[in-house]
Amino acid sequence: MTDIYQHILRPLLFQLDAESAHHLALSSLRIANNPIVSRALIGICGVSDPRLNVTIAGLEFPNPIGLAAGLDKEGVALAGLAALGFGAIEIGTVTAEAQMGNPRPRIFRLPADKALINRMGFPSAGANQLTNRLEQILPLANHLPTKVGINIGKTKSADIDHAADDYLRSFQMLKSFGDYFAINISSPNTPELRKLQEPERLQKLLNTIRGVGIKGRPLFVKIAPDLDDSQLNEVVDVIRRNGGDGIIATNTTFSREGIRSEINETGGLSGAPLKAKALHIVARLYQHTRGELPIIGVGGISSAQDVWQMMQAGASAVQIYTSFVYEGPLLVRRMLRELSQRLDQENITTIQSIVGQQNQAILLGEIAKS
Ligand code: FNR
Repeated sequence: MTDIYQHILRPLLFQLDAESAHHLALSSLRIANNPIVSRALIGICGVSDPRLNVTIAGLEFPNPIGLAAGLDKEGVALAGLAALGFGAIEIGTVTAEAQMGNPRPRIFRLPADKALINRMGFPSAGANQLTNRLEQILPLANHLPTKVGINIGKTKSADIDHAADDYLRSFQMLKSFGDYFAINISSPNTPELRKLQEPERLQKLLNTIRGVGIKGRPLFVKIAPDLDDSQLNEVVDVIRRNGGDGIIATNTTFSREGIRSEINETGGLSGAPLKAKALHIVARLYQHTRGELPIIGVGGISSAQDVWQMMQAGASAVQIYTSFVYEGPLLVRRMLRELSQRLDQENITTIQSIVGQQNQAILLGEIAKS
């Protein structure tokens, strides 16, 4: 089936422009919103191994591999994606107001680099519309162990100085849905959004959102890979002091370092070229927090070995996006099986025990040299 995807389906999908292929793939997964189909699919794709369970901020995930935000922004194929074996699906980014995002084309493939560039700019049907959809769709995924996160961003027209009010509106509408929440302050495609990583702005944002009453549902902050060490430390300290439960690292990068493709498009780069940067950030975060703030590692992960390395660097779980586009629907199952085998080989009783096991200082030195 992996071969079918790589030799038949992917070449066909890649004939289409990236966004049309994306919608086609998501629509076909909608068929698994039917519980009979999703049960059959989980029978084929699911890997049930309790040693892969991870608990983050009190929330238990069936395994450490989540789907990163942006792939199913509106939750249309939630059950289908969950049935592919993901431990978590992060829907969104959703904004308080409905908006179109940037003009198309806005996703570009870089096959030689196993990478994508996107400048979507948060197309969203709006938080209100998402609540309606979630009311219908969450029950269809109830029988699956996958946790559902909701990623919230700023409406483009909302003034940056009043961004907290805009996020607050989304939270008020969505607070009773989702097992966890992520606030996105790191997309490169919404003007000024990344300013929300500045300590004062972030503090205000977190305090405002915490006031809405999402007790018991962890609140994670998604950060950019382009922060330097002192900015990282500041962000982490603000999150810890103001009730954040964890950090998702990272979003796409402005950098074009290490890519071979000749492409001159603006937007955020994701996939393989982001891997070293994301790993560096995770190791730095773990070193700074001494493991006291859970980290979800994202960026260029495409194999069980990448998951292992990210967890040893300090991530309690990981997310993927770009590798799923290149490798296809069975990637998660393959990675989970390989993780189980590695636990067998190394006689490890739970994957959670490897979190932060690598010496971060040594790892950072190795990344810097590579
Ligand atoms: C994204 N990503 C993203 N992140 C986010 O927080 N909200 C979003 O709406 C989106 N949208 C989005 C669209 C597209 C087309 C891509 C490729 C990516 C970023 C994504 O969640 C992830 O952080 C990065 O892509 C890095 O992970 P990978 O792709 O290297 O595994």
